[in-house]
Amino acid sequence: MSANAELVIDLDQYRANLAALRAHAPGALQMAVVKANAYGHGMVPVARAARQASVDWLGVATPAEALELRAAGDHGPLLCWLAVPGAPFTELIGADVEMTASGVDQLEAIAAAGDRPRVQLKVDTGLSRNGAFGPHWDDLVAAAARMQAAGRIEVTGVWSHFASADEPEHPANDHQEAVFRAAVDQLAAAGVHPALRHLANSAAAVTRPSSHFDLVRLGIATYGIAPDPAVPVPDVRPILTARTVLANVKRVPAGSSVSYGWRWSADRETTLGLVPVGYGEGIHRTASNRAQVGFAGGRAPVRGTICMDQLVVDLGDRPARIGDPVTVFGPGDDGEPTAQDWADAAGTIAYEIVTRLAGRWSRTYRGER
Ligand SMILES: Cc1ncc(COP(=O)(O)O)c(C=O)c1O
Repeated sequence: MSANAELVIDLDQYRANLAALRAHAPGALQMAVVKANAYGHGMVPVARAARQASVDWLGVATPAEALELRAAGDHGPLLCWLAVPGAPFTELIGADVEMTASGVDQLEAIAAAGDRPRVQLKVDTGLSRNGAFGPHWDDLVAAAARMQAAGRIEVTGVWSHFASADEPEHPANDHQEAVFRAAVDQLAAAGVHPALRHLANSAAAVTRPSSHFDLVRLGIATYGIAPDPAVPVPDVRPILTARTVLANVKRVPAGSSVSYGWRWSADRETTLGLVPVGYGEGIHRTASNRAQVGFAGGRAPVRGTICMDQLVVDLGDRPARIGDPVTVFGPGDDGEPTAQDWADAAGTIAYEIVTRLAGRWSRTYRGER
């Protein structure tokens, strides 16, 4: 381990997760979402493994992500959905990246950038984020029909995104699906019949078959993490282990206070271990005094404030030496906490725990082909 700390990513398990998720949406094509550095797992190796697992599509947010994939040799179907004015549309279309249009101006910019580019339309069905809403959707439908009839574009898809799929009983789900169906009908009435209609993310892929349509866009579940503890995803397992070793060990007397602000003091003599990762690695400072790490087949609590480069754990009376292994989080097989445990401790969601992993980790890929 050349760096102080290492992320080990199991690509065999990633491919197994993709296979398991196929069974949840057998009638739909599968898109692996690899944006945001594959949720912290490393975009290029993960994307390569996804192609090996025969995913039908990859999905990214930004043009830079799409072009990075192409530069790394990826050349399968690839959808990009978050461009700003001035995005390199010509380069993207030349690289066979399918762009998403969320409004008429964007559709015009895409059409102007290539020879009859393939484009997907995004309708805002209630998330109120990207996508065209209300009269803007009407305008986008009219423009898309006109431009397709004129041979300027080929509309290959229409899609939207759920606000509350991780709460299967939330009324937003029925509402958004109904709005989506109406939007697809509206497009058809205008003479546009894209082959790909898609709405479902991981949670909807698992809980809501009516939303599968032609393709499901799978992010968090491919990494083996449930969208929410209340929405378990059977048959997938976490693919990432964040591990390091103790950088220091010291026996301290009762009354010793730990880390910035002295927010924890030992009520008895104990052994403290220094773990050389902190918020510089994307470890959430809000988990100070709350999270645990895996140590010697059990867990050790984080004590005091999590710092930029390091955090302190209480090893009690367990034998410990500098260099002993520590698992910050992982699949949980060896007693270590999971990303969800860290999310609970940090007051956030497991998505953020993995996606924020940054800074000075090295990444090791198992099962790379
Ligand atoms: C447009 C879009 N589709 C699909 C996904 C995948 O969602 P999930 O990770 O919940 O499967 C995301 C991620 O947030 C997204 O932004």
